[in-house]
Amino acid sequence: MTKEKILVIGASGQIGVELTLALRKIYGATNVIASDLREQNPLLEGTGPYVSLDVMNKEMLHVQVIRQGVTQIYLLAAILSATGEKNPALAWHLNMQGLLNVLDIAKEEKLTKVYWPSSIAVFGPTSPKKDCPQKTIIEPTTVYGISKYAGEFWCNYYFMKYGVDVRSLRYPGLISYKSAPGGGTTDYAIEIFHEALEEGHYKCFLERDTYLPMMYMPDAIRATIELMEAPKEKISIRTSYNLSAISFSPEEISTEIKKHIPEFTINYAPDYRQAIANSWPQSIDDSVAAKDWGWKPEFDLSAMTKDMLDNLRK
Ligand code: NAD
Ligand code: SER
Repeated sequence: MTKEKILVIGASGQIGVELTLALRKIYGATNVIASDLREQNPLLEGTGPYVSLDVMNKEMLHVQVIRQGVTQIYLLAAILSATGEKNPALAWHLNMQGLLNVLDIAKEEKLTKVYWPSSIAVFGPTSPKKDCPQKTIIEPTTVYGISKYAGEFWCNYYFMKYGVDVRSLRYPGLISYKSAPGGGTTDYAIEIFHEALEEGHYKCFLERDTYLPMMYMPDAIRATIELMEAPKEKISIRTSYNLSAISFSPEEISTEIKKHIPEFTINYAPDYRQAIANSWPQSIDDSVAAKDWGWKPEFDLSAMTKDMLDNLRK
């Protein structure tokens, strides 16, 4: 169907598994190579090629790109917000050097496109809390947020200076049932479903009224593919696009879960992740993505909750 050969780095992670499967449907199984530092996620087994790869080893990455005839890279390997605060040096090193390795190789091998996700974590306490705009004050206070903001400007630099067609989305907290989350502040909104079904109770590490921007994984995968397939002239943002779907608090999602599991209970025991959540906006204005390439979310809180519970029960 196409001559594109895609390498997904970090394919065994929360987004990587679902994105790899979606890309294989579009581009053909053999044209999408999954790769990760850890072993292949069982959900990917038998669905297409897999290589073991460390994005920090630039030489080996370069060899793989040439050997496999790679034309596009989706770079998902990173350390997320909560884990990053526990090991700031490692988070900075992986999140920055991994990206620079990929951008350099993209430039040298003239790859057609690169995808690299940023995050709502670029925003800090001085950014607007509600409907945070695309362009505003951005002063992140986590190492993860700092690395994402710096990464956005490296993407812009490689586009402006070398013409690398690198595209990016500032994902909100992503909620999914297929693959486990990797150490973020928004992970509570996934744990709550598992605990509700297994224990009937959830001890939440954020306060009841902590509103955060969130999105169901099918919307995030669709947004990623729509951005990557948009004509080049439609892409006006070369740092990273704001992206939005739902905003809710732990109390609101627990009320929604109770509609399906009436005996479900929740209590609140905020830890160090509360400070991270407090530094982020509560909702995001993604009107630039809507205008440039037609972004529109499909899942609201109630549709997402029903779908999560239906699938986890299976
Ligand atoms: P994840 O932690 O679930 O997956 C990351 C994967 O990268 C893991 O499988 C890990 O083994 C792999 N990896 C780590 N170091 C590596 C290395 N040196 N070489 C190769 N692979 C390595 O993360 P995720 O949630 O899937 O996030 C993917 C990307 O999306 C990240 O850049 C993250 O910052 C971004 N993002 C995620 C969310 C979210 O809610 N999940 C929100 C905003 C942005
Ligand atoms: N879900 C991510 C995190 O909490 C946001 O980038 O780290």
